[in-house]
Parts: sequence; C-alpha cells; structure tokens
Amino acid sequence: MINKKTLYLSHRHPLQIQTAVQKRSYPHVFLTALLIGLTLLYIQDVQASFSDDEGCLICHKYPRMTRVTEDGAIRSYYVMPGVFANTVHRNVPCRDCHSYIKELPHREVKEGVQCNSECHSVKNPATGKQFSHKGIYDAYKGSVHGREKNTQGIESDKPYCITCHTNPIYDPNEAGPPKHIVDRCVLCHEDQKFVEQWYKHTSRRIRDVKRSSEEIVQLCSSCHEDKKLIDRHVKHAAENNLELGKKFKVAVESYEESFHGKLTNYGFQGTANCLDCHAKEDNYYKSVHEIRPSRDPLSPTHKDNRVETCKRCHTRADSNYAGIDPHPTALADDGVFRHYAEKIYDLISYITILGLVGLSMFETFGRRRDGVAFRLRKGTSWRRKSKRGRDRVE
Ligand code: HEC
Ligand code: HEC
Ligand code: HEC
Ligand code: HEC
Ligand code: HEC
Ligand code: HEC
Ligand code: HEC
Repeated sequence: MINKKTLYLSHRHPLQIQTAVQKRSYPHVFLTALLIGLTLLYIQDVQASFSDDEGCLICHKYPRMTRVTEDGAIRSYYVMPGVFANTVHRNVPCRDCHSYIKELPHREVKEGVQCNSECHSVKNPATGKQFSHKGIYDAYKGSVHGREKNTQGIESDKPYCITCHTNPIYDPNEAGPPKHIVDRCVLCHEDQKFVEQWYKHTSRRIRDVKRSSEEIVQLCSSCHEDKKLIDRHVKHAAENNLELGKKFKVAVESYEESFHGKLTNYGFQGTANCLDCHAKEDNYYKSVHEIRPSRDPLSPTHKDNRVETCKRCHTRADSNYAGIDPHPTALADDGVFRHYAEKIYDLISYITILGLVGLSMFETFGRRRDGVAFRLRKGTSWRRKSKRGRDRVE
C-alpha cells in the first residue's frame, strides 16, 4: 500500500531517486568513469547556497551523476544544491556525516552514515559540546525497533533512523521566511542570512511541522502490514521462545477496522493514529523513539496505562471504556464475540436475501403458469386474465 518513494521524495536527502529499469545484464557494472565523463560534458553551473568547503559538489552537483547497480536499478548520486540548502542538515559539512571519506577523489563507498556520530563542525549552542543525536539514539536503541546500522537477517527488518527520516526541508508549506518578520529582525541583527536561518530552524518547531496522521499510519504500515515480514518474526519468536504482542500479526488490518482507523482514512486528523497510543503525549518527540511492546509496564499501551492513554482524548474514559479493543478483529482466536456475531449476521442476511428472491421467483413462476403475461406498460407489468380463473391482476 505504501509508496515509499512518494512518502519520502519531498524530503529526500541528496535526492536519491532510484528508478527501476528493465532487468538486463550489464557487463560493466561500474560505469563510474564513463559517467563522470558524461556528467562533465553536461556542464551546468549550479550555485550552491551553502558552503561546500570540502568540494563534494564539484562532482555531486551534476544531475546525470548516476550509476546502474548490480540488480539493474538506476541510482542517483546527485545532490541538489538548492534543495540541500533548505534542509535541516544544511550546515553540516558532508564529511561530518560521510566521515569514512578520507580522500578525494574517493573510492567506492561501502560503509553507511551512522546517526549517532558526533558532528565535528557543529556545536550545541546550549551546552557548547559537539552536537550529536546521541540522546535520541539511546532512546531508540532501548525501543522495540533498536538495532545497529549495519545488520543482517531478521534484525535488519527493524527501522533505522533513515528508514523513517530523510533530510527534511524545514517547512515544505512555506516558501521562505515572511519579509515583514525578517525586516524586523534585520533591524537589529543586520545580517539577513543569520536571521533567515534562525527563523527557519525555529519556525519548524514552533509550528509543529510534522507528519499527518495518514503519513504515520503509512509509515508504520509499511512494515506492520507486510505479511512476509510478520511471518518471519512470528516464526523467529516461536523458535527462540520470544514473546510477541497478541495483535502483532493483525496490527494494521485491525486498526483499519477500528473507528479510529476509519476516521483517519477519511482524512480526519483529530482521531488516534498509531503514535497517539504507542507513544506518550508527554515529551512526544522523544517518546516516538522509544516505542515499547504492550507487555512492558512503561508502555502507554500496557493495560495499567490504557485509561490514561484513552483519556488524552476521551476525557471521561474509565477502565470499561479503555477495555474496548483498539485493534478489533473478527478472528476466532481473537475477537470471539465478533467472530460468532458476524457468522450469525451473515447467516441471517443470506437467509433473508435468499428468502426474498425465492418468494418472488415462486410468484413469477406461479403467474406464468397461470398464463399471465409479463409486459412493461402502463404501470403494471402483469396483463391478461389468468387461464385458471385465479386472477391476480385487478
Ligand atoms: C571527483 C568527483 C567526486 C568528488 C569530488 C566527490 N565524489 Fe562522491 N562520488 C563520486 C562518484 C563517481 C560516485 C559513484 C561511485 C560508485 O558508484 O562507486 C560517488 C558516490 C558517492 C557516495 C555514494 C556511494 C554509495 O554507493 O552509496 C557518497 C556517499 C559520496 N559520493 C559522498 C561524497 C562526499 C561526502 C564528497 C565530499 C567529501 C564527495 N562524495 C566528493 C565522485 C565524487
Ligand atoms: C546529516 C548527515 C548527512 C549530511 C550532512 C550529508 N549526507 Fe549524504 N547521506 C547521508 C545518509 C544517511 C545517506 C544514505 C546512505 C547511508 O545510509 O549511508 C546519504 C547518502 C548520500 C549519497 C548516496 C546516495 C545514494 O543513493 O545512496 C551521496 C552521493 C551523498 N550522500 C552525498 C552527500 C554530499 C555531497 C553531502 C554534502 C553536500 C552530503 N551527502 C551531506 C547523510 C548525510
Ligand atoms: C519508526 C520511525 C522512526 C525511527 C526509527 C526514528 N524516528 Fe525520529 N521521528 C519519528 C517521528 C514520527 C518523529 C516526529 C516528527 C514527525 O512526525 O515527523 C520523529 C522526530 C525526530 C526528531 C525531531 C525533529 C524535529 O524537527 O524537531 C529528530 C531529531 C529525530 N526524530 C531523530 C531520529 C534519530 C537520530 C533516529 C535514530 C536514532 C530516529 N529519529 C529514528 C520517527 C522515527
Ligand atoms: C531589538 C533588537 C532585536 C530584534 C528586533 C531581534 N533581536 Fe535577536 N537578539 C538581539 C540581541 C541584543 C541579542 C543578544 C542578547 C540577548 O540574548 O538578549 C539577540 C539574540 C538573538 C539570538 C541568539 C544568538 C546567539 O547566538 O546567542 C537569535 C537566534 C536571535 N536573536 C534571533 C532573532 C530573530 C529570528 C529575530 C526576529 C524574529 C530577532 N532576533 C529580533 C536583538 C534583537
Ligand atoms: C522498517 C519496518 C518497521 C517500521 C517502519 C515500524 N516497525 Fe514496528 N516493528 C518492526 C519489527 C521488525 C519489529 C520487531 C518484531 C520482533 O521483535 O521480532 C517491530 C516491533 C514493534 C512493536 C512491538 C511488537 C511486539 O509484540 O513486541 C510495536 C508496538 C511496534 N513495532 C509499533 C510500531 C509503530 C507504532 C510504528 C510506526 C511509528 C512502527 N512500529 C514502525 C518493524 C517496523
Ligand atoms: C487507540 C489506541 C491504539 C491505536 C490507534 C493503535 N494501537 Fe496498536 N495497540 C494498542 C494496544 C492497547 C495494544 C495492546 C493490545 C492487546 O494486546 O490486547 C496494541 C498492540 C499493538 C501491536 C502488538 C504488539 C504489542 O505491543 O502488544 C502492534 C504491532 C501495534 N499495536 C501496532 C499498531 C500500529 C501499526 C498502529 C497504527 C496503524 C496502531 N498500533 C494503532 C493501542 C493502539
Ligand atoms: C488522539 C486522540 C484519541 C485517543 C488517544 C483515543 N481516541 Fe478514541 N476516538 C478519538 C476520536 C476523535 C474519536 C471520534 C468520535 C468522537 O468524537 O467521539 C474516537 C472514537 C472512539 C470510539 C468510537 C465510539 C465513541 O465512543 O465515540 C471508541 C470505541 C474509541 N475511540 C476508543 C478508544 C480507546 C479504547 C482508546 C484508548 C486505548 C482511545 N479511543 C484513544 C480520539 C482518540
């Protein structure tokens, strides 16, 4: 259901568009040299609006900088300078993240970027220390999704930071800082660029620029509705004697069945999405990174915390209300009552429909047998007298 491309494209870090091409075998997979040649021919001077002291854009500013991977997909290494300059990481030099690149021109890249590494160039203005995402990283590592960057097998099914985040643009809905505000700040600060950067940085957070409910449901569903992934984990848990929540297998389809899910599908923002229940309201931005299973007493979905969780919105909720299943299904081993209620309702509706159709069939055949003709004219379709005197038409 989820189209990862459309979900993330607008936020894509250095615009990494991967276009699948027809599978063909490429004898020379590393077309790098040729491609550099091609890209240099495609000279186009792009003005970077951030400082590129490391000179990465000498090569990476070219739109045609692509390569065909081993499995036949086109991979782009193009960094759009104009887009990058409007993203939250615009002030982070390329090699603070791509720290494994030690020389230029660089070799083939095998390692990835770790999101817990310390920035060499950016300090946290509040503490004066080198900036890092360590706090978030530690919360994430303790969560159900915590894993190392480079993992294999079953672990790699879990989301790493870049599964959920690319390099977002500050506020996609705002073209730029409003002039009347900038003018006012510049009055004292005298530097337009300083003011614009601070404005964008702060306004994203003050305006609460974040995912909509649908986007959150899409994000979680991209894995939790993937049958193969679910089966792998159910099997793995059974083999290793690990516990999984009762709703693990049906989390998404059951949410879609719930009242909340239906409202979200209609585009309503005020109802509960996955994170309204699975993350705490208090310190929300940290809490989304420490999702715990419902069997953990610290989870807002734990049975002892459920009333509080529902009360965020249903102010008069009590333990009865909180007992309502937020992941309802009609499966025999889950929603027993609904399972049989649905069976009975099905039966009743089949009998009713069958009965109605049956009755009208009897009537029709009865009339035909009596010789009454079927005609669509003047209001009634039954004309002519009955042969047997049992006249049904007035
Ligand atoms: C001389 C041109 C050149 C310069 C300068 C350059 N690159 Fe590259 N870069 C390339 C080429 C060519 C590729 C594709 C390599 C390949 O396919 O093996 C690439 C690929 C990459 C990749 C992706 C590799 C992957 O497979 O995921 C990253 C990341 C990268 N460069 C980062 C940087 C950074 C950071 C800088 C600046 C410090 C930089 N590059 C400077 C030419 C360059
Ligand atoms: C905030 C950290 C960060 C900064 C700053 C950053 N990158 Fe990246 N870059 C990443 C991540 C994360 C990836 C995804 C690949 C991975 O996980 O290693 C990536 C991927 C890439 C790729 C490969 C695209 C692909 O399809 O795999 C290129 C090329 C690249 N970066 C170039 C640059 C250049 C040039 C700059 C500076 C203008 C830069 N990056 C700045 C984090 C960063
Ligand atoms: C399962 C998905 C998921 C994973 C994995 C994840 N995040 Fe997040 N993150 C979110 C959501 C959801 C938000 C809330 C903002 C929103 O809705 O876009 C958020 C918010 C943030 C913010 C606040 C952004 C702002 O504009 O104020 C930062 C910073 C952040 N995450 C960093 C990280 C880092 C670093 C990691 C890896 C250690 C990580 N995230 C892993 C889903 C995730
Ligand atoms: C009346 C003059 C004035 C106006 C208008 C003004 N500032 Fe300031 N600003 C200051 C002074 C003076 C300081 C430093 C002293 C302080 O902390 O009060 C400062 C500090 C700051 C800092 C902290 C810088 C640092 O590195 O510590 C930021 C960021 C900032 N202002 C942004 C803005 C923005 C954005 C606006 C417009 C919305 C704005 N200012 C409007 C006078 C002003
Ligand atoms: C990249 C895939 C992926 C994404 C995206 C993802 N999850 Fe998960 N999730 C997993 C995997 C894999 C597990 C681990 C199952 C296991 O322990 O074997 C898991 C476990 C969980 C568990 C605990 C299950 C249990 O019974 O122990 C919960 C709760 C959960 N995720 C909720 C969410 C929510 C809410 C979101 C959206 C913000 C989300 N997940 C996004 C892959 C993902
Ligand atoms: C109204 C609150 C609510 C909403 C909305 C919600 N959940 Fe849940 N979720 C719960 C509760 C409570 C449980 C524990 C149910 C049980 O075991 O009986 C649970 C269980 C789960 C489980 C099984 C693992 C565990 O912790 O027991 C997963 C996985 C999960 N939810 C994912 C999701 C996803 C993905 C979404 C969004 C598509 C979502 N949930 C929406 C409240 C909610
Ligand atoms: C983020 C807000 C939010 C949270 C948290 C939340 N709900 Fe809801 N829920 C809503 C909204 C909005 C509706 C729409 C109907 C309405 O206005 O009453 C709704 C409707 C319902 C309905 C449909 C019937 C009714 O009473 O209106 C049930 C049942 C329900 N929620 C149960 C729960 C349970 C149980 C929990 C806790 C596990 C919970 N909700 C948590 C926002 C929320």
